[in-house]
Amino acid sequence: MLKLHTTKINTFKITKMASFLIVTDLDSTLVGNDASLEDFNRFFTNHRETHGSKLVYATGRSLKLYKELESEVCLLPPDRLITSVGSEIYTADKQIDGNWATQLSENWNVEIVRRITGKYEQLKLQPESEQGLFKVSFLLKPQHKAILENVNQELKAENIKAQIIYSSNKDVDVLPEQSGKGKALSYVREMLGMSRSRTVACGDSGNDIALFTENTYGIIVGNARSELREWYEDNKRSNLYLARANCAAGILEGLYHFGWLKG
Ligand code: GLC
Ligand code: MG
Repeated sequence: MLKLHTTKINTFKITKMASFLIVTDLDSTLVGNDASLEDFNRFFTNHRETHGSKLVYATGRSLKLYKELESEVCLLPPDRLITSVGSEIYTADKQIDGNWATQLSENWNVEIVRRITGKYEQLKLQPESEQGLFKVSFLLKPQHKAILENVNQELKAENIKAQIIYSSNKDVDVLPEQSGKGKALSYVREMLGMSRSRTVACGDSGNDIALFTENTYGIIVGNARSELREWYEDNKRSNLYLARANCAAGILEGLYHFGWLKG
């Protein structure tokens, strides 16, 4: 990588080079420790101003819950916002991306998904705010995980192309096959004109696995959940880094590891 010169901001030196794109999960990835979030924000604000780097949040939260988080912690304004586990995408001024919604409507019927999943009493519906046209979400105890395979078979039999994601030993999201955080990352990355080799994804749990399958750089924070750690053990590669530090400090550690931040 071409290193031109470095600038010191507080304790960090930023490598002066081309812009990059950070696509990061929020809960327990970027957000979780206020001091390291502040460090990240300082680092990124400088990079954005000097190089035009871009920031995208990819969260499981709905827009409503994202706005709640925004009022609780200090989040930089993102260039794009991926919510609801990649089933909705918003512009910087929070306008929904209609093209994305059109793409997701193929081979998908939310009524059928609700009817099939409604037969399983172990699946407890999450609050209404977390249900969407392209996302049906539940809580499920880990001991009942095996029923998800039955749900999958039933959906297939009805020609619904769905994916079922289990995160944090409790959350179940049923989404169109062509959605999810990873597919949304690639859509947004292309829209922002950033190459894979200048993009880094960051996450901590099951719904972030898809972020790491789009051939970009990846940072798994030190506090990652078991489902993501297990996936990492089977999918190690040189541009995927498991940090020791937690949350935003883990992201900075990963950027340092890849040489995108010098200390
Ligand atoms: C967020 C969402 C929830 C989802 C979970 C895991 O907590 O609010 O609906 O199930 O992320 O993706
Ligand atoms: Mg998370």
